[in-house]
Amino acid sequence: MQRVTVLLVFLTLIIIVLNLKSGQNLEVEKSFFDLEKYSKSYHAEKDLIAELSAPKVVEEIVEEVVENIEPIVELTTESQIRGQKLYSKCITCHGKHGTGKKSQKAPKLAGQYDWYIADKIKQMQDGIWENKVMYPYIKKLTAQDRQDLGAFLSAYKW
Ligand code: HEC
Repeated sequence: MQRVTVLLVFLTLIIIVLNLKSGQNLEVEKSFFDLEKYSKSYHAEKDLIAELSAPKVVEEIVEEVVENIEPIVELTTESQIRGQKLYSKCITCHGKHGTGKKSQKAPKLAGQYDWYIADKIKQMQDGIWENKVMYPYIKKLTAQDRQDLGAFLSAYKW
């Protein structure tokens, strides 16, 4: 009887030791705290915060808001209406309502004197004032077109 007990105890011990050994091979749960993952998302958030609070973005938002405000403009003459049509080519740089775009380095035109607009365009056509990016858009404008654009842009009251 004593021998049987010793044998049973021995067997139990072997089973325990084997169990402990197999436990050593278990994968430690890594995903519980993956430093690399957390540090990546931390940096992504930090970059996003930096981007959102950067002055450039704020400026662009202001530009967009200003562009979408419906300004006071009354187009009463034929010339102004024609000018508005011609102006569609200038929107990409000078904005929907001629408010200008800093990103394009294009100045505000709305509310400017009609004669000044016409003069400036003429100066560029004559090569007195050079601007390679704008030139293709104005090179074919006639004297009437220049006057119409001036009439349209000077109609804005800010
Ligand atoms: C590709 C961009 C671009 C387009 C399109 C464009 N412009 Fe310009 N424009 C500019 C830039 C940039 C300036 C200012 C740079 C400079 O003074 O040389 C400017 C300046 C001007 C000025 C002078 C403003 C001032 O206060 O001296 C007038 C007037 C003008 N543009 C009219 C027009 C008209 C009218 C059109 C459409 C037929 C037009 N532009 C289309 C980029 C553009």
